[in-house]
This record gives sequence, structure tokens and C-alpha cells, in this order.
Amino acid sequence: PRILILGAPGAGKGTQSAKIIEEFDVDHITTGDALRSNKEMDISDMDTEYDTPGEYMDRGELVPDDVVNAIVDEALSQADGFVLDGYPRNLDQAEELEDMTDLNIVLYLDVTEEELVHRLTGRRLDPETGDIYHVEYNPPEDPEVEERLVQRDDDTEETVKERLSVFRENTEPVIEYYEDQGDLERVDGDQAPNEVWEDVKATIEDAA
Ligand code: AP5
Ligand code: ZN
Repeated sequence: PRILILGAPGAGKGTQSAKIIEEFDVDHITTGDALRSNKEMDISDMDTEYDTPGEYMDRGELVPDDVVNAIVDEALSQADGFVLDGYPRNLDQAEELEDMTDLNIVLYLDVTEEELVHRLTGRRLDPETGDIYHVEYNPPEDPEVEERLVQRDDDTEETVKERLSVFRENTEPVIEYYEDQGDLERVDGDQAPNEVWEDVKATIEDAA
């Protein structure tokens, strides 16, 4: 399947995508991870405000469309089935995506805003495996893992606020766009991770 997963920062896109790729044997295409591995890339020749993706990301702003579109276009050309996470984030990107591929399923993880802040400020990552944890909701069992956990640079309270406002302004219209097309599968993302997964899995199976 060709799956798009939409949701605010902290909604659980990465958490659910990890389960989707295991269950359905598809690629995880994530613009956030792709940009994080290229934070220092020189993009100054693209006539951008800042010289690297990292300067946008650490402010919670969107990286310029030209940079992100190129990443997604390249990744999609190499994938058969996929779950796309982190893109499109504005209407221009949504239009670009139309020309790149046909989607089977558009999922939207719906989560309340105060819960999002709590999830993001408590998130921790395992730098060795990329696994996603939370200090309260999902702490690692292995103390060795716990010791090496790191926080994402943009998970500070100030940057989280900016990311949420960018989401409201730029990405909520994208959700309406898919809703208007009648394609949007809304999942209650305010449940525990495994309950969200039950709903996500059932939605994908029903659509297939
Ligand atoms: P990106 O990496 O895409 O970040 P994001 O959209 O802000 O989303 P997150 O990764 O923060 O959240 P998530 O939904 O994956 O949640 P997770 O599963 O980790 O983008 C980062 C930056 O890159 C952007 O700000 C921008 O600068 C740039 N960028 C990326 N794409 C771009 C684009 N297309 N155009 C322009 N710029 C772009 O879960 C969060 C926490 O909650 C974890 O701790 C987890 O354990 C916990 N959790 C998950 N589910 C549950 C649950 N059900 N119950 C309780 N806790 C849960
Ligand atoms: Zn993510």
C-alpha cells in the first residue's frame, strides 16, 4: 500500500509508522528524519533565507519547499509500498505530491493540543536504534538504553510552540484538503499507542 500519515507534531506519526512498516512491509519515508541527517547541508544556492536545513528546524520553521520536494521525489521513485510521514505540510507540497504518486490511504492522527506539548517535551530517542520513547508514557526497560537516550534539538518548549503554530497555519489546510476530497481516515490519536495501532491497522486493512 501507499500510505500517507498526517498529524500534528507529536501526534504519533513516527511511533505508528514504525509499526506500519513492520506489519505491511513498506518503506518509511520521513522528511523529518531525512532532514535531520542533512541538517548541515549547504542550501544557500537555492536562494533560501538560511543556509542550512538545521537553521529552520531548530527554529521550528518549515524548510523551503524546493529542498523537501526533491527529497520526497527521490525517495518515492525508489519505493514500491511506503508510509509517508512529515509531508505534505502545506498546500503547495500537497499539489506537488499529486504529481509524484497516487495514494491508497490518507490517515490523520487526531490529538488534542495540550497532549501534544506533553508528548513532545517528554520524548526521548535511542541514538543507536532510532527507537522513540517517552519519559512517562513509554520508558525503556533496559537501563543501558535509558542511559543513552537523547532529546531532539527541536523538542524545547519554545520550539514546540512555534512548531504547533506552523502546523495550525500551514498544515491544517492540508488536512481539510484531503477531507474535502473525501479521502481522510481520521483515527483517534489520544488513545494509548497500542489502541491507536489497532485502529490504524484496521483502517489500512479495510482500505486494501
Ligand atoms: P518532523 O520530524 O516531521 O516532526 P513533527 O511533524 O513535528 O513530528 P514529530 O516527529 O515531532 O512527532 P510524531 O508525530 O512523529 O510523534 P512521535 O511518534 O515521535 O519535522 C521536524 C522539522 O523538520 C520540522 O519542524 C521542519 O523544520 C522540518 N520538516 C520536516 N518535514 C518538512 C516538510 N515536509 N516541509 C518543510 N519542513 C519540514 O511521538 C511523540 C512522543 O509521544 C514520543 O515520546 C512517543 O513515545 C509519544 N507517543 C506517541 N504515541 C503516543 C500515544 N498514543 N500515547 C502516549 N504517548 C505517545
Ligand atoms: Zn516524527
